[in-house]
Amino acid sequence: MQRHGIGRLISAAGGTADGITATIGDLGAEAVAAMAIGELLHRADLPPGPEATVHLCLRHGTTTIRYGVETGPAGVTSRPHRHGDEPSVAPDVTVTQDLTEVIRSLFGPRGTQSSASRVIRWGHLEDPTAFDRPLPTYDVVRRLVDALDRPYAIGLAELCVRYGSDKWGHHTYPRRYEQHFDHLRDQPLTILEIGVGGFGDQGRGGASLEVWRRYFPRALVYGLDIVDKSHLSTGRVTVLQGDQSSPADLARVLEVTGRPDIVIDDGSHVSPHLLASFAYLFPHLRDGGLYVMEDLQTSYWPFFGGRASTYTDPATSLGFLKTLIDGLHHEDIVGRAPASTDPDIGGLHFYHNLAFIEKERNLDGGAPSWIPRGVKQAARVSG
Ligand SMILES: C[S@@+](CC[C@H](N)C(=O)[O-])C[C@H]1O[C@@H](n2cnc3c(N)ncnc32)[C@H](O)[C@@H]1O
Repeated sequence: MQRHGIGRLISAAGGTADGITATIGDLGAEAVAAMAIGELLHRADLPPGPEATVHLCLRHGTTTIRYGVETGPAGVTSRPHRHGDEPSVAPDVTVTQDLTEVIRSLFGPRGTQSSASRVIRWGHLEDPTAFDRPLPTYDVVRRLVDALDRPYAIGLAELCVRYGSDKWGHHTYPRRYEQHFDHLRDQPLTILEIGVGGFGDQGRGGASLEVWRRYFPRALVYGLDIVDKSHLSTGRVTVLQGDQSSPADLARVLEVTGRPDIVIDDGSHVSPHLLASFAYLFPHLRDGGLYVMEDLQTSYWPFFGGRASTYTDPATSLGFLKTLIDGLHHEDIVGRAPASTDPDIGGLHFYHNLAFIEKERNLDGGAPSWIPRGVKQAARVSG
């Protein structure tokens, strides 16, 4: 399904059931069902294990779209059952639910998930030997319905471990991210992360994009890497190629993404690159958005364009960020040449190796003009 189609579904999922049903009708129930099954399987994290066959039946009006999901030691496969393509093997379990409700559960805001239309039919109920012992299917179905009913139940550190992002382990960023991101989790966001991962190895990378896709169930997630990793695009994740230090490349990126709500810079970690990306992207960030820079220890490392012996050089990432602290007080400082971003930065948060910049109007007017600022005035007041 086209990205704008997914975007339409996500925004419909924040509205009425009738609106969701109408959007499904516009986009085509089969295409929506295929996308929903892909999203559901991504979130269910079904591990390789004993064999189990689950049929998922998604109802839309008088139509029922059926999918077979097979789990086994080799992993998971799924495929639609077309008309006349009835499966030869009876399923272990059939789960039926209205497609509208499934879409709302997958993409709706926190608290709107519902299972009112769901029916689960276990295939073994008439088999007395199956009574009183856990079957492999129980865990498979538990994971599938949890993915629908509790999309916000999983934490960021667990997701980093699951998908292999070094944001947890090598670093301990998740608790800081959760501090700043938790209240945004159910918003229909556009997120751009610079640095997809895997460096020159085209087969590797994408871990943190999967993390964001899962952590923000309603977000469209974009990754930018200097190496072509576009084959990692899937579902709500789109991977673009470009150099974060090139304004022309960043302009192309924004043509695809539109204005982001969140930018995370986990790219080259070279100070001039961080500054170039910030200079180009921050003005395009939506109001209320967040700009994050990771691995700022490189600001002290000459190999990354940092400085080992001075900590305030504005050509380094942390030296530059320190100037933004002055910028917070731009209306109160006499004689400082204002930076163009000063009126748009409402808050700065620094942690070990990590900084968050809040985009917010900062034009309160400063302190009253009669409060003395200069030395002579101060002397007059005290004398
Ligand atoms: C630390 S990895 C990203 C890890 C990923 N964000 C994660 O948490 O799983 C850094 C990535 O930045 C990419 N990169 C390096 N220089 C870049 C540049 N100038 N522009 C864009 N990406 C760059 C590298 O190819 C590498 O894949």
